[in-house]
Amino acid sequence: MDNVFDSVELPSGGMYTSFGTYSATELLDIVGRLSELTGTSVHDLVMAYGRYLFGRFKVLYPAMFEGVTCALDFIESVETHIHVEVRKLYPDAELPSLHAERSQDGSLTVTYRSSRPLAVVAKALITGCIEHFGGHYDLACQDDEDAEGPLTLFLVTRKAEDPA
Ligand code: HEM
Repeated sequence: MDNVFDSVELPSGGMYTSFGTYSATELLDIVGRLSELTGTSVHDLVMAYGRYLFGRFKVLYPAMFEGVTCALDFIESVETHIHVEVRKLYPDAELPSLHAERSQDGSLTVTYRSSRPLAVVAKALITGCIEHFGGHYDLACQDDEDAEGPLTLFLVTRKAEDPA
């Protein structure tokens, strides 16, 4: 950590608190430098971080998991409940839009839109969520663009060998 922080120019000075607001560029610079130092790709570092982070949610915010038994229900609740509560606590938070839609075949499509290039964070958290609830789903991702701008589609489908 010292090696990374000593070699990246951080306007905040590298001091972070949960109530502060920081440029996402700092995060990208830190993870980019960590990638250079470790030889692990940015994608793989962010995936490891996000999967770890999902486990921390469970420890830190158990109330959000109460009564939820399925990964799809949890993912749906991010846009409708969890990030809504986050916004109340942290009005300056820059949250992504994570619009979720169920298909008749039981799969879930999540459309990620954000002013920041953090789709891999979403991918990692969704992966962590699937793993947490038993790993019954596959995840596919695709970057796309429409009239509203860039987006990433996440398709969460039940594993073939794992019927509901
Ligand atoms: C599957 C579950 C979740 C997904 C996919 C998800 C997705 C994301 C993503 C991708 C971001 C980065 C911002 C961006 O892309 O613009 C974000 C930000 C954030 N999320 Fe979530 N999230 C999830 C669950 C949660 C939970 C459980 C909490 C709280 C306990 C939470 C709290 C936050 C907070 C505080 C931020 C930072 C906002 C800021 O300060 O700018 N998220 N979320």
